[in-house]
Formats: sequence, C-alpha cells, structure tokens
Amino acid sequence: MLRNWYAQQKKRMTEAGIESAGFELDLLLAQFADISRERRLLCPDTDLDDPVRQRLDGLITRRLQGEPLQYLLGQWEFFGRSFSVGPGVLIPRADTEILVEQALSVLEKIPSPKIADLCAGSGCIGITVACERPDAAVSLVELSEQAAVWCRKNIDALAPQCCLLQADVLNSTAGLEDLDAVLSNPPYIPTKDLSGLQKEVQNEPFMELDGDTDGLRFYRGITGLWKNRIRPSGWMIYEIGFDQAEEVSRILAEHGFKKVRTIKDYGGNDRVVLGQKQ
Ligand SMILES: C[S@@+](CC[C@H](N)C(=O)[O-])C[C@H]1O[C@@H](n2cnc3c(N)ncnc32)[C@H](O)[C@@H]1O
Repeated sequence: MLRNWYAQQKKRMTEAGIESAGFELDLLLAQFADISRERRLLCPDTDLDDPVRQRLDGLITRRLQGEPLQYLLGQWEFFGRSFSVGPGVLIPRADTEILVEQALSVLEKIPSPKIADLCAGSGCIGITVACERPDAAVSLVELSEQAAVWCRKNIDALAPQCCLLQADVLNSTAGLEDLDAVLSNPPYIPTKDLSGLQKEVQNEPFMELDGDTDGLRFYRGITGLWKNRIRPSGWMIYEIGFDQAEEVSRILAEHGFKKVRTIKDYGGNDRVVLGQKQ
C-alpha cells in the first residue's frame, strides 16, 4: 500500500541524512509512478504495482548511495525550462539564473547579439539566453565529451539554432570573434575545498568544479584570452564563488574592463561579476 511504502522509504532516507526526503519521494512518485502529491494524500490506500515499486526501490537505493536526485529524474528545471541531466554533467543551479538575468539586461538594447557561453556544461546559460532572445547568435563551448552529449541533447530540445563547439576555453577561442558578450560559469572551487563538498556534489564530475589552487585559474585565463574576441562596449559576465568578487573584479579591471560590478544572489551572496570592454 502506498501509505506504508511512503512512510518506510521516507524513514530510510531521513535516517540516511536526506533532509527533504518527502519532497524527493513525491518527485520520484510523480515521474515514475504517475502519482502526484495530491493523489498520494487523497488516495493513500492505492496499491503500487510490483514493477513500479521495484523500480522506485532501485532508484531510492541509488539515492541512498549518494547519487543526486536530479540524475535519477534525468531532468532539472532552470529558468522555467526542463534541462536533461545525468552522470557527467553539472546540474543547473538556481544561483546561475542571476547570470542569465544580468546577460539579458545588458543585451536588452543590442539587436541580434552575438554571444559565447564558455564552459557550457548542460548548456543552461547559453540555451536560456537563446530562448529568451531568439534573435541572438549563441555559441556554447565545452571541453568534456560527456558534458557535451548532454549539452547537444538540450540544444536539440530547446534551442536548435545554437552552435556547440568542443574546445578548451583556456587555449582556444574556437574561431569566435566580434562577441557582444562572453558568459561563463567556469569551474571555480579551489582544489583543496573539493573534498569538503556534500556527498551529492561529489558525485558530479570534478572537471566541472575544480578551479585550481585558488579557484581563479579560469577567470585569469578566459579574461586574458577572450577579451580580444569581444567587441568594444561588449560584456564579460562571470558567475563567481561567494568570496571571489574582489579578485575577479580586479582581474577584469587589470584587463581594461570598465563599469565592473558585482551582483548578489537571492541568498545575499556575491554571485556575478561583470564588466564592459572600452
Ligand atoms: C561549473 S561547470 C558549469 C556548467 C554550466 N555552465 C552551468 O552553469 O551549469 C563548468 C564546466 O566547464 C567545463 N570545463 C572545464 N574545463 C574546461 C575547459 N578547459 N574548456 C572548456 N570547458 C571546460 C566542465 O566540463 C563543466 O561542464
């Protein structure tokens, strides 16, 4: 019976330290058993078919082993759209929506802007901008083979007009030039801090996160290499770690960017740094 199954699984997950066990179970039930939270509450005596229950139990076991819920669901929402995700790609974070908002704001008065999303991962940044600005030409650059597969899938589903380029953004500008904006959420966690991350985050690929010794390698490398690919008055917009605003602002200023400013996320942490090329 659904009521008993739900109570047992919730207990198992809560005891394993999963804080929002009820919420996660409802998402799994909705996606894999077609049972909404309302139906669970209204019809708690419903029987779960054996194959469905076995599938759910298997997913919960993977969850208890530390696999992120989003990988089990195979999708996660970003800026109101569903992005496919799975092993090998970073799950889009709500904080990254701040970068997208800033990009849309500075690009508002630029007709048919040309944009690059560097270190694109799932493609959530570039694809969202392309959806919100259908007149934009958006290129997404990603090095990891595995991540590029997810990015391609999301481009095909959401914004087929985007171009995906597989390249190392620290060594190549992939033939892109005359950009109105370079957007990037690069790996920015200092290597020494990676081992302290939550179990779920550790299940995401490290190449997605490792920003080298001080976490600033990508900001230095991208700014130095890509500034000449931005048009005069064009923008460089970065997502940053909560304690990196000062250093990333300095990097942009040292490379001649003006109007350098920091934007906070809804939790009150510094989250985005942007600057305009002269
Ligand atoms: C922090 S994740 C951001 C992913 C995505 N933009 C987002 O906001 O969810 C960083 C991404 O950079 C990619 N990456 C790491 N080193 C790279 C490099 N040298 N060139 C291009 N992409 C790289 C990783 O594979 C990963 O997908």
